[in-house]
Amino acid sequence: MTSQQIKDLTHQYIMTTYGRFPVAIDHGQGATLYDPEGNAYIDFTSGIGVTDLGYGNQAWADAISAQAKKLGHVSNLFYTEPAARLAETLCKRTGESCVFFANGGGEANEGMIKLARKYSFDKYGKGRATIITLNNSFHGRTITTLMATGQEVFHNYFFPFTEGFRYADANSLESLEAAAGDDVCAVMMELVQGEGGVLPLDYEYVQAVKKLCEERDWLLLADEVQTGVGRTGKLFAFQQYDILPDVVSFAKGIAGGLPMSGIMANEKCRNVLGPGTHATTFGANPVCAAAGLVVQETLTDAFLEDVQAKGTYLRNQIEALDLPCFGKTRGMGLMIGIEVKDGYNKSEIANKLIENGLLVLTAGPGMRLLPPLVITKEEMDQGLAIMKKTLG
Ligand SMILES: Cc1ncc(COP(=O)(O)O)c(C=O)c1O
Repeated sequence: MTSQQIKDLTHQYIMTTYGRFPVAIDHGQGATLYDPEGNAYIDFTSGIGVTDLGYGNQAWADAISAQAKKLGHVSNLFYTEPAARLAETLCKRTGESCVFFANGGGEANEGMIKLARKYSFDKYGKGRATIITLNNSFHGRTITTLMATGQEVFHNYFFPFTEGFRYADANSLESLEAAAGDDVCAVMMELVQGEGGVLPLDYEYVQAVKKLCEERDWLLLADEVQTGVGRTGKLFAFQQYDILPDVVSFAKGIAGGLPMSGIMANEKCRNVLGPGTHATTFGANPVCAAAGLVVQETLTDAFLEDVQAKGTYLRNQIEALDLPCFGKTRGMGLMIGIEVKDGYNKSEIANKLIENGLLVLTAGPGMRLLPPLVITKEEMDQGLAIMKKTLG
């Protein structure tokens, strides 16, 4: 099919929930994507932080194909090796104790919220179910995670929402104290706010929140749906902050492009979600888990150090271009935000770049770059050249 035919068919038969860029993608190699007509696009998005191994990765495709031929699915009423091995790897590499596998980020966060509320219910009974989240956060699109999201714009249309969320300003202990109370069971946060604009939390603030949570027996819940699986240059962003959260959610990059997510919990929370309290049909799918194992094998410590180096290179080079529309960059590893100066429109900038062969994202008030973690220097340089040509 041509790009136009794909677009027409999509408009006719798929709900219009997404504002799409006018490009159809057919295939990819490394960090370069191609439309059906063969036009190339350097990818600074990785499908919103998903395709960490890029496109056409042989080991990943082989593992998926081998596992699909062997066993494509079996329910969680039985045991499978790929899921058990992936859970083991995640725990051994992070210090967490156990994993629950799900399918998407919002769903993982639902599990994390359920765990926090049940931990508190089991220990203290009813009335201690409130979770403090941060203003400008993003936690998902389910009825509950929309409410966990600390942005008023998401609290619309779908009433009634789930009760039991209060919001505090990021990096302010005073604001957290103002939201505190006897009814609180947990604090939930992204360590780098992603959709909100690529805003890393302060190290000292995160350390202080962890201490406060321990003192008050609140669970610390880290939403690592976007920051997890190597994106920031460590396997998980909490390792940048030298803390071990009670529960961590992950999704996006975990299986390199197949739908998989989950939560990891520490020893204290191991038995909270006992038999019959939580489940999902597709969770721990063996094909997704086999793909996840290839991701873990690829993301060695040396590879992750390289992710940090690539992030630094890209940020330095973008700032060195000194483009009239861009201000400072910020972020961690290959999760990069770029300030858009007053008088310029981030969506127009994104559209122009895409037209010229560079896929980028927007977030909060600026641009957001989430390239595949395997991106090469040549591909980064090609992307930078398109930026210069388009916006210089
Ligand atoms: C931090 C964070 N949490 C949750 C979600 C929701 O994930 P999903 O779209 O897979 O449900 C996202 C998606 O962008 C996210 O960035």
